[in-house]
Amino acid sequence: MLLELGSLLVGALSPSCPPTCQCYDTSKVFCSNERMREIPEGLPGSATHLFFVETELEAGAFQGLPSLTELEVSGSPLPAVSPGVLAGLTSLRKLSLNANAIRTLQPGLFTASCRLQDLSLSGNRIEALPPGIFRPLRRLQTLDLSQNFLAELPDGLLAPLTALRVLKLSDNLLAQVPPGAFRALGQLTELHLDGNHLEELPSGIFSGLGELRRLQLQHNTLGSLAPDIFTGLLNLTLQLSHNNLSSLPARLLAGLPLLTALVLDHNRLARLPPGFFHANDELVRVGLSDNPWVCDCHLSYLLHWLQSFAEPLIHGQAFCSNPSALRGQALLEVSRGQLECPGAHGVPPEEGWDTDAAGQCTYTNPEGTVSVACNATACHRLSLRLPPPGQEQGLGPGYRGAWVLRSRCGTLQVSVLVTAQSRNEPTSPALSSAP
Ligand SMILES: *[C@@H]1O[C@H](CO)[C@@H](O)[C@H](O)[C@H]1NC(C)=O
Ligand SMILES: *[C@@H]1O[C@H](CO)[C@@H](O)[C@H](O)[C@H]1NC(C)=O
Ligand SMILES: *[C@@H]1O[C@H](CO)[C@@H](O)[C@H](O)[C@H]1NC(C)=O
Repeated sequence: MLLELGSLLVGALSPSCPPTCQCYDTSKVFCSNERMREIPEGLPGSATHLFFVETELEAGAFQGLPSLTELEVSGSPLPAVSPGVLAGLTSLRKLSLNANAIRTLQPGLFTASCRLQDLSLSGNRIEALPPGIFRPLRRLQTLDLSQNFLAELPDGLLAPLTALRVLKLSDNLLAQVPPGAFRALGQLTELHLDGNHLEELPSGIFSGLGELRRLQLQHNTLGSLAPDIFTGLLNLTLQLSHNNLSSLPARLLAGLPLLTALVLDHNRLARLPPGFFHANDELVRVGLSDNPWVCDCHLSYLLHWLQSFAEPLIHGQAFCSNPSALRGQALLEVSRGQLECPGAHGVPPEEGWDTDAAGQCTYTNPEGTVSVACNATACHRLSLRLPPPGQEQGLGPGYRGAWVLRSRCGTLQVSVLVTAQSRNEPTSPALSSAP
């Protein structure tokens, strides 16, 4: 790669450049020499960007380059970076130590690096980090620790990084993260936790991350998710593929009004709860492939959603794995009449909605567009998905609908009348129960 660069840049070589390096633009210097033990003499004093390839580094190496803003070292066999190495580099804004053999970072390594905005340590062999190592890095915006051997994050490790926007922890050995690990990172827009060994996530782990736009959790072994785990992540692209999810809580996406993409491929999902996407009007991309979908009456909500909103190119790859009569058929090609539950007469499954609430029953129609959650004395939640204006039963500005809803607890009759009102006066649905 360096050779390529060398030939590309040969026309721009500066006359005062050490023999083992190539300099261009009067400020950028590339050096490559396996046996180089220290920074070669004769670097242009104007150097602001230094790149080392296959070079060993020693303490004090960079003394006297106070204007250096960018330093990149790769291919070094040294297992540690000694604290002195960065001592003189008080202007450093970007430090890339990718693809070296670093096992540890010495406490104090970044003491002089308070201007650092971009730190990249991917492709090393880091197994553990000293808890206070990032304390001076209050201006850091990007931290890349991917492709290392990190098995845990010390409590408080990331707390000083209040300016952080991108955090990459992909492809490590993390089996868990401490509950408050990301709490201080209010500016974070991207969090990559993919390719780890996460089986579960502590509840509240993402709370406070209101700016988060991309959350990568694919290629872990997540078996379940708490219902409120993503609450507050308003505008998100969510990657959950290649996990071990066999069911999802009904309200998992309820607090994500601007969710744009959700990837659930390669899990163990047989069905999704009715109403699962109710709150997600912006959702345009849902990955469903390689799940063992059971194409019976409980799939009618998902099918209805897919047939109303899906794009065949994106969603065509999901297939029924049961019942045997429909095995291998694309979800998008199943007709609603084919979704049968022998002997169930449209009664929703007990696990369909809100299994978490004891003593509660949920009445729902087969499409999942209307449902009511009640206990023995009262109904607490009505969820209603009205058709787009003018599509069904449109009565000018109003809307009228009536359903008989069933559940294992009995039968409920719901009628809804929506009338246009001035200002924000609520319209209340009328509920009448006929158990
Ligand atoms: C949501 O985030 C995207 C970037 O991922 C941005 O383009 C869009 O404007 C955001 N939407 C809102 C309503 O904030
Ligand atoms: C996936 O979850 C099941 C239990 O639902 C468990 O038996 C299995 O070991 C899990 N697989 C992995 C790879 O963790
Ligand atoms: C039903 O729910 C209401 C409100 O949550 C509660 O006050 C009441 O005690 C519950 N009744 C039963 C029988 O659980």
